[in-house]
Amino acid sequence: MIHANNLCLSYDGKKDIIHNGRFHIKEKDFVFITGSSGSGKSTLLKSFYGGIDPRNGTLLINKINMQKAGKSQIRALRKNIGIIFQDYKLIKEYTVEENIMLPLQLNDYNDKKSLEQAKKLLKHVKLTQKGHFFPDELSGGEQQRAAVGRALAHNPKLILADEPTGNLDDYSAELVWSLLRKANEQLGITVVVVTHRIPDNFGLSYRKFDLLSGEIYES
Ligand SMILES: Nc1ncnc2c1ncn2[C@@H]1O[C@H](COP(=O)(O)OP(=O)(O)OP(=O)(O)O)[C@@H](O)[C@H]1O
Ligand SMILES: [Mg+2]
Repeated sequence: MIHANNLCLSYDGKKDIIHNGRFHIKEKDFVFITGSSGSGKSTLLKSFYGGIDPRNGTLLINKINMQKAGKSQIRALRKNIGIIFQDYKLIKEYTVEENIMLPLQLNDYNDKKSLEQAKKLLKHVKLTQKGHFFPDELSGGEQQRAAVGRALAHNPKLILADEPTGNLDDYSAELVWSLLRKANEQLGITVVVVTHRIPDNFGLSYRKFDLLSGEIYES
């Protein structure tokens, strides 16, 4: 699913944030990425959805060579990815339900199917009563749950999550972990999660990548 060889990521073309990364993430893997603030976790995740191009080395995501991929290939790749951002990135002008419908419409679901699927996801993230609210009208935890619903709605092959429980109370955090666990276990979705803290008794076998001084260590 994800193959990196000598992967170098840099914003200025000089200093590498990730240096010579080499790893393979298989379908159905559940991977945690940890490391101190500024170690490059979000940058690495960004490279998986084409938000930053490799400065050097190879990065294959779902067989697409990210160094050579054009816009249409990246667009096609993103249809198979669900992303949960550190700061939710919900669209303010859209209701929660419309936010969840968005990836479905981009994936050619018709209006009826989109609405049905959005309602199903609202139920999974326990926001059935809030579907017609705008993001501003929700708590941080509710917004993050809405973002998780949006990331899962189109049955992606790969979920990328950046600190999905960073700002959440225990109830919302456990709900998010259980949804990610189920996505992996029951639907076979590959999950890559950046987190400061791996939950105790996670209840699923997982891999752990640690970022330190630009290097990636698996433990
Ligand atoms: N858009 C950008 N332009 C230039 N430098 C950037 C950009 N985004 C991040 N950086 C730099 O890259 C380094 C790694 O940042 P990154 O956001 O990947 O860290 P992180 O591990 O996700 O940290 P945190 O745990 O605080 O979220 C930092 O030194 C940061 O200043
Ligand atoms: Mg980050």
